[in-house]
Amino acid sequence: MTTRTDIAVPLVDLRATYLPIRDQIFAEFENIFDRMGLFLGRNIRDFEREFTSYCDANFGLACSNGTDALTLALKAFDFSPGFEAIIPSHTFFATFESVVHAGGVPVMIDIDPQTYCMDPNRIAEALSDKTAVIVPVHIYGQCADMDAIKSIAQKHDLKTIEDAAQAHGSAYKGQKAGSLADAAAFSFYFTKNLGAFGETGFCTAATESVFKRMQLLRHHGHAGKFEHEIIGHNLRPDELQAAILRAKLPLLDANNRKRRDIAAQYDNAFADLDITTPHVADHNVPNHHCYVIQTPNRDDLVAHLANHNIGTGIHYKTPVHHQPAIRTVEHRALPMPVTESVCNHCLTIPCYPELANNQINHVIQSVTCFFQ
Ligand SMILES: Cc1ncc(COP(=O)(O)O)c(C=O)c1O
Repeated sequence: MTTRTDIAVPLVDLRATYLPIRDQIFAEFENIFDRMGLFLGRNIRDFEREFTSYCDANFGLACSNGTDALTLALKAFDFSPGFEAIIPSHTFFATFESVVHAGGVPVMIDIDPQTYCMDPNRIAEALSDKTAVIVPVHIYGQCADMDAIKSIAQKHDLKTIEDAAQAHGSAYKGQKAGSLADAAAFSFYFTKNLGAFGETGFCTAATESVFKRMQLLRHHGHAGKFEHEIIGHNLRPDELQAAILRAKLPLLDANNRKRRDIAAQYDNAFADLDITTPHVADHNVPNHHCYVIQTPNRDDLVAHLANHNIGTGIHYKTPVHHQPAIRTVEHRALPMPVTESVCNHCLTIPCYPELANNQINHVIQSVTCFFQ
């Protein structure tokens, strides 16, 4: 028997994120077009200052998207060609791609069964004399165990770069994502907690020398008018998107709090069901970019929720080490029992600040009735 209701709960609702800032962004668009200051313009410079300060980072620059931000961060360290980068396999494919784009070899390791982030205990067996960098991913908006990762990095003289694409405003031991490593990369893809309405990304750096190299790489290695110091790229950000991000940034903390509040309601409601709810490490403040549960009957639950007009997602059904594309490039993958199991059971349900109470209740009731 199917049950449809009048209440629809999409997995994301981009229009809802636009309405509160509509007037503000159109007013600023007018200013931008009147000025025509499009090339690394005023909004970009202001946003760079504001987001760098928001992350408590030393240096920061905006760029074209999150994949490019991670590539830029990796390239900024000028590792030897064929360097190895240790990454988790349970991530969006861009983490792997960025290492390849930067001339490196991805070495994939398993995740912690509770936080779903890179398991620091698996790093030692992935090390080789080519290892140059560890790239933890703050998956679903919960920070990886950076102290454990950095202590291994320090011991072996490796760099650390946060893939903070999903971690706007997340914190680890009181310190913000983006300020936890030698460098970090953010994505402002539409659906992120801080999302543009087009593509934008961001790099942070702990030192000025790395930041300066990021700047050069972002814009054709440009050191002066028509002088090119290194072979770079065109990874420049867009002035209109920067205006949108500036309008959204002041709302980020309140929106993240709402996500945590919805997550707490789900945690309570699902406590007695055959569901593993997200585990938040004591030292972490997550931004709940995704609320991901695990359940043995995942596919049946997806169908049941679709019948109740509730959107779901699977992040990620096929782990990176099983993606067909990687056959064409050099890589290594260590054993992945946790990743394999999580990929078979994980399910993302709607959790975003614009959800109305009747939508939250509808999700709770629909999930609960599946298990009864
Ligand atoms: C973990 C992770 N890394 C990298 C990226 C790449 O960001 P973008 O889509 O902006 O290129 C994403 C985006 O979804 C991501 O989730």
